[in-house]
Amino acid sequence: NYYAIIMAGGIGSRFWPISRTSHPKQFIDILGTGKTLIQNTYDRFLSVCPKENIYVVTNEIYTDLVKAQLPDVADHQILTEPVMRNTAPCVAYGCYKIESQNPDAAIVVAPSDHLILNEAAFIATIEKSLKTASENNCLITLGIKPSRPDTGYGYIQYSDDTLNDEFHKVKNFTEKPSLDVAKTFVESGDFLWNAGIFVWSGKAIVDEFSKHLPDMHTIFADARTVYNTESEKSHVHTVYADCANISIDYGIMEKAENVYVLPSEFGWSDLGTWASIYDLTNKDEAGNALIPAEKVIMYNSTNCMVNVPEDKLVILKGLHDFIVVESNNTLLICPRSEEQNVKQVVADVKQRF
Ligand code: GDD
Ligand code: MG
Repeated sequence: NYYAIIMAGGIGSRFWPISRTSHPKQFIDILGTGKTLIQNTYDRFLSVCPKENIYVVTNEIYTDLVKAQLPDVADHQILTEPVMRNTAPCVAYGCYKIESQNPDAAIVVAPSDHLILNEAAFIATIEKSLKTASENNCLITLGIKPSRPDTGYGYIQYSDDTLNDEFHKVKNFTEKPSLDVAKTFVESGDFLWNAGIFVWSGKAIVDEFSKHLPDMHTIFADARTVYNTESEKSHVHTVYADCANISIDYGIMEKAENVYVLPSEFGWSDLGTWASIYDLTNKDEAGNALIPAEKVIMYNSTNCMVNVPEDKLVILKGLHDFIVVESNNTLLICPRSEEQNVKQVVADVKQRF
């Protein structure tokens, strides 16, 4: 009764030009491990459930990328979206379809673009959560101990009430707070970051959609008659644009009451910024992180992050704390302190070209 849904329709704009709308971060081997992030995600779930039970939800423009990178995923397990509507409809599509086939399903929903260093711990955590979610018909999210007041995460305040001694009842879920609020959360000590990995019973999540996003509930409950038929795709594609553009975090997690958090540790990083890649990459004595390292020559340069095509000869001289990234004939050079602003730069560049 265990299922997995991989969310793979985001565009990862902070990693431009490596991550592009036409080829986003989840389809890239961003750490140079030999596998792309979505391939690693899929492989982890093979240890949790049979491959027939692993679904990928993505924008239709990425269908060919998914097929090429995950050849074992059958066509009917790739659920496509005709337009971007963020993660709430993506989750609803996958969960309603699974729940309509198997009312006792327990489902893990996960991003496609995260790094997990300790796979054994991850798999044990997911299995434990699937079991607890199906026995208790509840929503579970995985919580990570926060190390800084990052405004890119959801924050979870937990209580001492527990389920099975480990799963803490969630008091409050706050998606992407302001910096001031994030600081008070981190200082208070009873908050965790939301890892963005959710585990629930099919029944429980359908119930929460019906309460908090009733219009979306109607759309995907009405589609029950067409799931797993020839007309599924055309029907869903017709109604998808009517869905509100909202994330699962704002749409459901902030409002639901039946939520538990499992404090977790499995070497998690959401690879959200170049800083996180820099932290995870082997560095030379001068603190330079080079992917790949063969053809990059450094003179008197320190703490740089270089990511360029394999055949590119790159020479840096006297450069400190810079990001140098080349992909698709586009070269970006910027101080590491400016990396959060790359998002805006991309928007501007897109307007011009
Ligand atoms: N299918 C589909 N459609 N997938 C999407 C869409 C969409 O419209 N938008 C985003 N995704 C995918 C992304 O590819 C990613 O794998 C995942 O859904 C999460 O989306 P992000 O856009 O990366 O979310 P976030 O990082 O801003 O925030 C979420 O993750 C944080 C942890 O990394 C939230 O859950 C936060 O609460 C959480 O802390
Ligand atoms: Mg993310």
